[in-house]
Amino acid sequence: MSKQRLIIFDTTLRDGEQSPGASMTQEEKIRIALMLEKMRVDVIEAGFPIASPGDFESVKAIAGIVKDSTVCGLARALDKDIDRAAEAIKAANSGRIHTFIATSPIHMQNKLRMTPDQVVEQAVYAVKRARNYTDDVEFSCEDAGRSEFEFLCRVIEAAIDAGARTINIPDTVGYQIPSVFGDIVGRLIQTIPNADKAIFSVHCHNDLGLAVGNSLAAVMQGARQVECTINGLGERAGNASLEEIVMAVRTRADVFPVETRIDTTHIVPTSRLVSSVTGFPVQPNKAIVGANAFAHESGIHQDGVLKHRETYEIMRAQDVGWSDNKIVLGKHSGRNALKTRLQDLGIELASEAELNLAFTRFKDLADRKHDIFDEDLMVLMMDARSGQADAIYELVSSHVCSTTGEAPEARVTLRANGVENTATAIGGGPVDAVFKCIESVVGESANLTLYSVNNITSGTDAQGEVTVRLEKAGRIIHGHGADTDIVVASAKAYVDAWNKLASQSLRDHPQHHQGV
Ligand code: KIV
Ligand code: ZN
Repeated sequence: MSKQRLIIFDTTLRDGEQSPGASMTQEEKIRIALMLEKMRVDVIEAGFPIASPGDFESVKAIAGIVKDSTVCGLARALDKDIDRAAEAIKAANSGRIHTFIATSPIHMQNKLRMTPDQVVEQAVYAVKRARNYTDDVEFSCEDAGRSEFEFLCRVIEAAIDAGARTINIPDTVGYQIPSVFGDIVGRLIQTIPNADKAIFSVHCHNDLGLAVGNSLAAVMQGARQVECTINGLGERAGNASLEEIVMAVRTRADVFPVETRIDTTHIVPTSRLVSSVTGFPVQPNKAIVGANAFAHESGIHQDGVLKHRETYEIMRAQDVGWSDNKIVLGKHSGRNALKTRLQDLGIELASEAELNLAFTRFKDLADRKHDIFDEDLMVLMMDARSGQADAIYELVSSHVCSTTGEAPEARVTLRANGVENTATAIGGGPVDAVFKCIESVVGESANLTLYSVNNITSGTDAQGEVTVRLEKAGRIIHGHGADTDIVVASAKAYVDAWNKLASQSLRDHPQHHQGV
């Protein structure tokens, strides 16, 4: 049986970034977009250009760099949004405008304060306006999961007539269950007279943990695009996870009438990258990309796998990009070995200067840590790059004195705009003392709502990766840092967080301020 293509639409950079605290810099977004392109994602939703100047610039930059994937910008059904999205994707080889308006009674009455007739009119207007800029227009019925079937048929038929080539059915609040959602999507495709002129897509949120199940049920009923995110990142409980959708379709090729063009070997490196950029750790038992996803603990399972891998494994770890945790580099490795290994991990160095910086940091780490694993390299590069981007504060040195029975005392020096400042403080613990010093130099404080340390590899010489979450004036940001000394890693993470607080402008939210 010949298979139809399932279009993979990744929205990590847009819906994923809407997770509180997951905001990313332009440089980080470009890096993720390049990994998604390498993974052969069909469509990259790069952002919501009207949301902020930063979002606009990121979408524009990604549209200029990515060549193989379609680059998409989100827009409410408003002139200013559509014009801004069009401007942002102008340079793309293949660009898409994704416009949306809510279609459920609860959203139309309480949020939009529009009648159903007005919503249809606005949807048609928006699609036509977007079509003036590109043939590739996607229309979404926001909160389709709670919309009336007859109204969905009406608005979708009108949107297709107006020129929408993709129709997206979002379960915006994660309310649906697979059998019902699959049935809705199937009936829409069967009922709407011009349904054959568009590709039907689904976009499911995970509030009941059913986003992947709902998406796959819709695929069985004719949906040919799935919107998803790396690690299932996204608003509230997140979106359908890309890796789970792709691997389900591939592993159960006997069931699904579709195939994707994804190069699955890039899944794990991309998951790692998204996790370190956002500071959202991946739970160990997460399907496909969790640290335990291919680990066998019970003796019976281990015995079975050793005798015949398929006894307990339905996928091969290498097929999704797990390396064997091999020692790849050490103290004596040269510049070329580092460059090649980074390229294998999907990390392209932009210039000789960046390679030199990476090499200096690598040598510094190799002096303190005998075996350098892929995981170490990825975190090292994250750290090096977050240190460069928009940095106002730079950690020059930290010194902590911690003695049994005495309060730890820290001394930290930061450089800000070329000027060095040192502060000393006493704290409840060494990390607390270091954070107090940093606050004293920065001259401000914020609510620390998360502090977590993860070891990147095993062993007592492993690097610790520290993530902090700060809340200040309604903004939530994450900072991260890594070092073999976890107090230094903590200082780096805290400085990174303060740099982000100082540099990022507020961003609007697609589901806010939707009045037209
Ligand atoms: O969840 C949702 O409805 C969305 C739309 C903007 C597609 O993210
Ligand atoms: Zn969404």
